[in-house]
Amino acid sequence: MTHPASAQAGPARRAVVATAGVCGLATLLAACGGSDGKKENAQDGEKGGGAAQPGAGAALGRAADIPEGGGKVFPDRKVVVTQPSKGEFKAFSAVCTHQGCLVKEVADGTINCPCHDSRFSVTDGSVRGGPARQPLPARKVSVNGDSLTLG
Ligand code: FES
Repeated sequence: MTHPASAQAGPARRAVVATAGVCGLATLLAACGGSDGKKENAQDGEKGGGAAQPGAGAALGRAADIPEGGGKVFPDRKVVVTQPSKGEFKAFSAVCTHQGCLVKEVADGTINCPCHDSRFSVTDGSVRGGPARQPLPARKVSVNGDSLTLG
């Protein structure tokens, strides 16, 4: 007497082998997908590179040109440097967080955008008025003697 299960074992085994073949192919495809992973990593690296301050190391001018309690916009560098208190220098992106205009001036303790009148604190870039909801991102500035340098 033949066992009914052994009669079906043949096709079932073939199905297992066929499935393993598909899995093998899937594994192969996954291995091929590894290059996409590398691409993503490269993009992450690019993002990390993007986090580096653009224009880092660029000379901005004299610290003495930054008024105490005020600041100065450097439109070519898209940065604004402020001096909230004597000898304390801060820098922020000059790109308004509302719709991307360049801020134009620093007056009365705020960094002002001409497009829709957003105003940002000279101390920390926080929003002080207008439609902007996000602060101006901080930038690094160093002071060496009387020279201001980005980064
Ligand atoms: S872009 Fe600056 S307030 Fe709108």
